[in-house]
Amino acid sequence: MSNSAPTPANPKTYRVKSFGCQMNVYDGDRMAELLAEQGITPAPEGEDADLVVLNTCHIREKAAEKVYSDIGRLRREDGSSPLIAVAGCVAQAEGEEIMARAPAVKMVVGPQAYHRLPDMVKAASQGQRMTDTDMPAETKFDALPKRRRSGPTAFLTVQEGCDKFCTYCVVPYTRGAEISRPHADLIEEAKRLVEAGAREITLLGQNVNAWTGENAKGQSVGLDGLIRELAEIPDLARIRYTTSHPNDMTPGLIEAHGDVAKLMPFLHLPVQSGSDRVLKAMNRAHQVEKYLSILEEVRKARPDIALSGDFIVGFPGETDAEFEETLKLVDTVGYAQCFSFKYSPRPGTPAATMGDQVPMPVMDERLRRLQTALNRDQYAFNTASVGKTCEVLVERRGKHPGQWLGKSPWLQSVHFTGDVAVGDVVTVELVEAGPNSIAGALKVPASA
Ligand code: 5AD
Ligand code: SF4
Repeated sequence: MSNSAPTPANPKTYRVKSFGCQMNVYDGDRMAELLAEQGITPAPEGEDADLVVLNTCHIREKAAEKVYSDIGRLRREDGSSPLIAVAGCVAQAEGEEIMARAPAVKMVVGPQAYHRLPDMVKAASQGQRMTDTDMPAETKFDALPKRRRSGPTAFLTVQEGCDKFCTYCVVPYTRGAEISRPHADLIEEAKRLVEAGAREITLLGQNVNAWTGENAKGQSVGLDGLIRELAEIPDLARIRYTTSHPNDMTPGLIEAHGDVAKLMPFLHLPVQSGSDRVLKAMNRAHQVEKYLSILEEVRKARPDIALSGDFIVGFPGETDAEFEETLKLVDTVGYAQCFSFKYSPRPGTPAATMGDQVPMPVMDERLRRLQTALNRDQYAFNTASVGKTCEVLVERRGKHPGQWLGKSPWLQSVHFTGDVAVGDVVTVELVEAGPNSIAGALKVPASA
């Protein structure tokens, strides 16, 4: 066990920096809770921390380089470094290399092993370096402390991992096989979050709609069953879930969009491409028609639903004509908001070694055209919302005096002024649309 740079024994303060998806944000919060249980406190804003956790993302470009530059930036003027832990999906995929290349890193911990962080910190304080990228069969969730803190919006991981093996994606390798957390544990964690102040819970999973479990009556239920039961928690105002796979969009879940009032009218359902040939090469196991028919069913159940998705441009072999099919799909759907990415070869995935990789300038141009179309549709969706009166969950203060920020049911950012408090659900008229947010006017003061 080598130990070159001086490290603070028994760290007193920590900072967790999470990159990437919402599940990483959830994991980062849980790691913070674990460290807090050890009596380590968050480093005050602007001050160095004794222990820094870099909670990394490996889904796209330059993930590993970013980690090395972040590690370099943590070096202090006197040449010392905090105790550094690299966590998340880069840790899982490239942990050994990180240990070899970056002596300042004392701990490498994968997404399924971070419940062991406190022991690793103890060992690191004594000068040891440790890697734990096991994917234990027993779940880490049992070893995590109970939830005690929450803002008005909270994440709750209900499902993890992926068995779909889309040919471009690292997730099945970094997060492992699909697991569903037990129903009872989720109800308990949700209740605790609500007691701690959460008014909205977003259920998370790489394939969240593949969640299955057994309710208290011993019946086997899908995500819709879980949502229905969570909706019974009195002080919980809103439920969302992300991210879904079209093939797991069950009739029950679609129905829940129509009859569970607390389930917000928003669906993130990635399709990735508008070309059936590309979808097949991606191993998506669904075609464009099927995707569109699911959206039609969802719209029937909940006509005002806001739709969202993910697209990849420049998947190996994608032709101009196939890309045009993606633009056509975008026009057909009319998304409220969307994510779009240039294809990035991920080491170890089948697509990385496919022939016909699309040149970068072509990908740049396709992404530019796609994003122009998506931005146009997002603005159109926002503009069409003007004049509606809706509920907004107040999340935080805005930049201007007296200004508040919150979300509409359709996940739009809304800003307005008035006498409200964080966590209130207030009635707001949407009065002016911008590309990324909407100005609102408070209609009814929050009731106490
Ligand atoms: N290159 C580009 N985008 C990717 N995504 C996943 N893997 C890659 C990759 N190799 C995108 C997909 C997915 C989202 C989370 O990230 O669109 O839905
Ligand atoms: Fe990756 Fe596909 Fe699984 Fe989503 S469904 S996590 S894109 S392999």
